Amino acid sequence: MDKFVIEGGRPLTGEVTVSGAKNAVLPILAATLLSSEPYRLFGVPDVRDVATMRQLLRSIGATVSDEGVEVRQIVHCGAPYEWVKTLRAAILVLGPLLARCGEAHVSLPGGCAIGARPVGWHLDALKRMGAEIALEHGIIHAKAARLHGARIDFERVTVTGTENIMMAAALAEGTTVLHNAACEPEVVDLAHFLIQCGAKIQGAGGARITIEGVPRLGGASYRVIPDRIEAATLLIAGAMTQGDLFVRGARVEHLASVIAALGKAGVPITMRDEGMHVRGGGALDAMGLETAPYPDFPTDVGPQMMVLMSRARGISTLHETIFEGRFSHVPELVRMGANIQIEGHRATITGVPRLSGANVMASDLRAGAALMLAGLAAEGHTELSRVYHVDRGYERIEEKLSAVGAHIQRVKA
Ligand code: EPU
Repeated sequence: MDKFVIEGGRPLTGEVTVSGAKNAVLPILAATLLSSEPYRLFGVPDVRDVATMRQLLRSIGATVSDEGVEVRQIVHCGAPYEWVKTLRAAILVLGPLLARCGEAHVSLPGGCAIGARPVGWHLDALKRMGAEIALEHGIIHAKAARLHGARIDFERVTVTGTENIMMAAALAEGTTVLHNAACEPEVVDLAHFLIQCGAKIQGAGGARITIEGVPRLGGASYRVIPDRIEAATLLIAGAMTQGDLFVRGARVEHLASVIAALGKAGVPITMRDEGMHVRGGGALDAMGLETAPYPDFPTDVGPQMMVLMSRARGISTLHETIFEGRFSHVPELVRMGANIQIEGHRATITGVPRLSGANVMASDLRAGAALMLAGLAAEGHTELSRVYHVDRGYERIEEKLSAVGAHIQRVKA
């Protein structure tokens, strides 16, 4: 288990480039199961979750290289527990496998550090499209000679639920209409990819998506969008270290709520076509913030924003509305000098003049990112252990940060 050793207080200056979006690549990789044609993918980040998804695709029968994927034949129509337990997003192969093979056997994901995270809405939607679903020994068994189009009303917004059903509906007989669909840019990216493969999809990016099923899909050559969560993490890092940082690939259209929050804190951001420039150094102001589905403030940036709030003047609040376990970094931040009270889904953060380095431990991906930011901004020495959580979603992050002036080193265990 590697750790990061950080000497805090160094301003981040220069330019850093955002990698491709993990949460766009994962469904796009799953979507390659929909056809036997070859796919070329560009901008795929070298992160652990992507490596796990690639291994899962290999076990299903895919030929996977750095450049692309080809699934001429399905040799195993499912995702066993060994993959699903390390990558919850493995549930994304359920829709494509069912649509292509008429059956799929995918281990039911359990809860994870951030919440219970059930997938019942994925299954309800597939049932409405004609699938027979049974759960036995922890495995979802789904069958349907050919799925048919249906009207699906999601109870609440679900990102991977929307993606799973969009993929399944692409090959179904007839038209599927998703209501209360997720509007996240990653959902839109998957739709663009599927459209390039020949799918007929309208309305992605809005709450109503219409998918007219086609008999088959072809291959495609596709570049994934930049990772807006990594971009937000880097912008906050620049702001908190009194830096002067250009984040290449940060897209204004994906980050409006984050820019607005940084604006409330008094952080100047300059927008350019190719990215965003952040300048730290001024006093930070307290604010009230609530996480919610896109286009509102992302739950995946809540922990990082709390680090900034912990240094702001006055009392900030963060209300987490998506996941019940998103505050696991808080006791560790408190050990670094933050003043944070938790009551249910609400955190009250009283700004302190400084954070001090400490030995802390990552408990999930974004909690790890938040503690890394705290270490960069703190006075003195921080050792962040269990960075394998960070490696799930941030590509060579210590190299990127070192290149713009951070003192951060990976120490191999
Ligand atoms: N939910 C249900 N039943 C369902 C599906 C969802 O109750 O059948 C609930 C969840 O428990 C949660 C809410 O609905 O309370 C929203 O969950 P959603 O399904 O949207 O989450 P997800 O699709 O499992 C994706 C991202 C997460 C991100 C969330 C929210 C991927 C691979 N994962 O998860 O990313 O936090 O959407 O935006 O796209 C991360 O990258 O660190 C990460 C956790």
